[in-house]
Amino acid sequence: MSTTLDPTRVTAPKIRQTGILIGDEFRPAVSGKTFKTYNPATEEVICEVAEGDSADVDLAVHAARAAFETGPWSRMDARDRGRLLNKLADLAELHLEELAALETLDNGKPINDSRAADLPLAIDCLRYYAGWADKIHGETIPVRGDYFCYTRREPIGVCGQIIPWNFPLLMVAWKWGPALATGNTIVMKPAEQTPLSCLRLAELALEAGFPPGVINVVPGYGPTAGAALVKHPQVDKIAFTGEGLTAKIIMREAADTLKRLTFELGGKSPNIVFADADLDAAAAGAEFGLFFNQGQCCCAGSRLFVEESVHDEFVERIVQRAQQRVLGNPFDTETNQGPQVDQAQFDKIMTYIKRGQAQGANCVTGGKRFGNLGYFVQPTVFTGVSDSMDIAREEIFGPVLSILKFKNADEVVKRANDTCYGLAAAVWTRDVKKAHQVAASVRAGTVWVNCYDVFDAAAPFGGFKMSGIGRELGAAGLANYTELKTVTMSMG
Ligand code: NAI
Ligand code: MG
Repeated sequence: MSTTLDPTRVTAPKIRQTGILIGDEFRPAVSGKTFKTYNPATEEVICEVAEGDSADVDLAVHAARAAFETGPWSRMDARDRGRLLNKLADLAELHLEELAALETLDNGKPINDSRAADLPLAIDCLRYYAGWADKIHGETIPVRGDYFCYTRREPIGVCGQIIPWNFPLLMVAWKWGPALATGNTIVMKPAEQTPLSCLRLAELALEAGFPPGVINVVPGYGPTAGAALVKHPQVDKIAFTGEGLTAKIIMREAADTLKRLTFELGGKSPNIVFADADLDAAAAGAEFGLFFNQGQCCCAGSRLFVEESVHDEFVERIVQRAQQRVLGNPFDTETNQGPQVDQAQFDKIMTYIKRGQAQGANCVTGGKRFGNLGYFVQPTVFTGVSDSMDIAREEIFGPVLSILKFKNADEVVKRANDTCYGLAAAVWTRDVKKAHQVAASVRAGTVWVNCYDVFDAAAPFGGFKMSGIGRELGAAGLANYTELKTVTMSMG
């Protein structure tokens, strides 16, 4: 681990928008309140952002409702919706450097990752869904009797979208792309830790020509702004990404108005390495699968199962890789690990590290804070982890890897499935049959074979069990943003 942290070298992008977007106007909160957003690498305040709550949510929902019911959006040709989405993607590409810098400033992720992963994936997602806009259609159905029966796929209406801070702009793209392609209108609440890139993209959406009220953004806190959106009777659907505990609250609060709900939640994803795998590739994949984005990935491969006969050799490779990670100023292009997003996440991770030690796991590298400024955590690896330990069961959401030993395929599949989660899994082997058998047996929404964290806008993503409800991305992502209408007409 090298020490490259030099906060004076942070190149700050200009902050253009810090208001609440309602219709076509960025404004202060009705209450006049603001909240601070921080640079997690320096712990310094970046700026103050308007703090929306129920009064602002109400205004935003009315703007979204009006745009949905009577505005130009409601009459717009599907092709033109697609053109607007493509225009937004073009503008995001034009401003890629600025958006990447905003993301790194507000979230702390390495600039290389913002440039090479977050931005290109977000832009690709917008383009992918732009292509769908004029390809969403129903069917004609041969019913009994003298009737003509067909279906239509119609937008759901006003969609409340609540997103987390780990991939701020990418989560915006995953939510806006399918919602807009299908003709819905949006009230989005970005995470309080990372509102800036979303506000800038919203400004670019106005520049692209989205009619007022189609996209509204209310920054603020979960229990105030988020909860108001969930309870609002004029909101038809909530799409949420974040913690399972929050999803449970949302589900209860949304019950009174029977909203449509889609959830993308956490995980404790098993990454299974068989002795016959390409161990170089598997080690690289295990490092990337856990440490990417500071371990703040819902699909992080946080339970690394290694077959007994190669266990010790594989641990050595992983430890070496962990120790070679470069922590420091996220604006430095040498850096591949930045700070955690905030003090709360830092504290949560440290608590898990202490619990892992107390419960008898071996911390073979890391385990401490890195430096004395910013929320940096050393890349941490535990061996001797048993299935019942907290570090093997609960989502840590940080750079903490648990390595578990296994003997054979049946055993490891059983143990991999012994979790309330089911978001992702990976298997590393040269045996094609074993790869497919494990892929079929693991209860998870995504299984990667001899790779990890391979995302594509066309490939559905979401969770089994307590990792979520519904799917995002791909054609599956569209289904969650449409109502199916059946029309039956007498031909007699
Ligand atoms: P969170 O679930 O509290 O926050 C996610 C979003 O939900 C934010 O926009 C927040 O303001 C909003 N929110 C919070 N409470 C709400 C409520 N009562 N009603 C409506 N909206 C509400 O997650 P948090 O606190 O940021 O992180 C806690 C843990 O959750 C992490 O340590 C991690 O384990 C997990 N997490 C999982 C993510 C994933 O991608 N699956 C992303 C972020 C966090
Ligand atoms: Mg929370």
